[in-house]
Amino acid sequence: MGKDVIIACDFASKEQTLNFLDKFTGKKPFVKIGMELFYAEGPSIVREIKNRGHKIFLDLKLHDIPNTVKKSMAVLSNLDVDICNLHASGTVKMMQSALEGLTRSDGTRPLLIAVTQLTSTDQESMEKDLLIKEPIDKVVMHYAHNAKTAGLDGVVCSPLEAGKVHEICGKDFLTVTPGVRFADGDVGDQKRVMTPAQAKEIGSDYIVVGRPITAAENPVEAYERCIKEFVD
Ligand code: C5P
Repeated sequence: MGKDVIIACDFASKEQTLNFLDKFTGKKPFVKIGMELFYAEGPSIVREIKNRGHKIFLDLKLHDIPNTVKKSMAVLSNLDVDICNLHASGTVKMMQSALEGLTRSDGTRPLLIAVTQLTSTDQESMEKDLLIKEPIDKVVMHYAHNAKTAGLDGVVCSPLEAGKVHEICGKDFLTVTPGVRFADGDVGDQKRVMTPAQAKEIGSDYIVVGRPITAAENPVEAYERCIKEFVD
């Protein structure tokens, strides 16, 4: 898969999501389905969007004992999604088990990427709540390296970290980056942002864009602007 723009479909219901996707006549953007929509609508929303011809990043961020993650990944693999994810903090063993569960009998599987440290975790909360005393960038790179060691395909990270992740894990290790905003757009609650063009420059493989597209007056135009800046 090459560079692409993934739209974060952070909607509360199937109706809102399909109404949104209906605006893209003739186009089939890559979409991200997160916990909110998945827990509201169940696996049928994944099948429905897949049947419409979209690629899907199922962002459920699994984290449990290796055996449970393995079995759950097998279920997600049957949904025929394109990308799944988990928390790297679940250990290398958990990530390896996830890969085993994800791999179908014919050897194919969805891509598997890891969340390193959530961007909502800062140095202070990491030290105080998690008792991790190392600098956060070092922790993020260590988790990325663990994901690579476990055989995963990449990580979710800030566009600001994408270059460093490629340096440490190789250029083929995927960086999937949220926190993207247009130069003239609202930053909202995202703290460290980049434009699609800057994310391309720094080497992100996929950008995940939510509100700059979903809340735009003309979402199709906003999506095309992302494609133009990031892919073309
Ligand atoms: O609307 P916005 O473009 O901020 O949406 C970004 C998407 O990426 C949301 O679905 C959010 O949950 C997700 N995300 C993020 N930062 C992370 C991991 C995921 O913004 N570190």
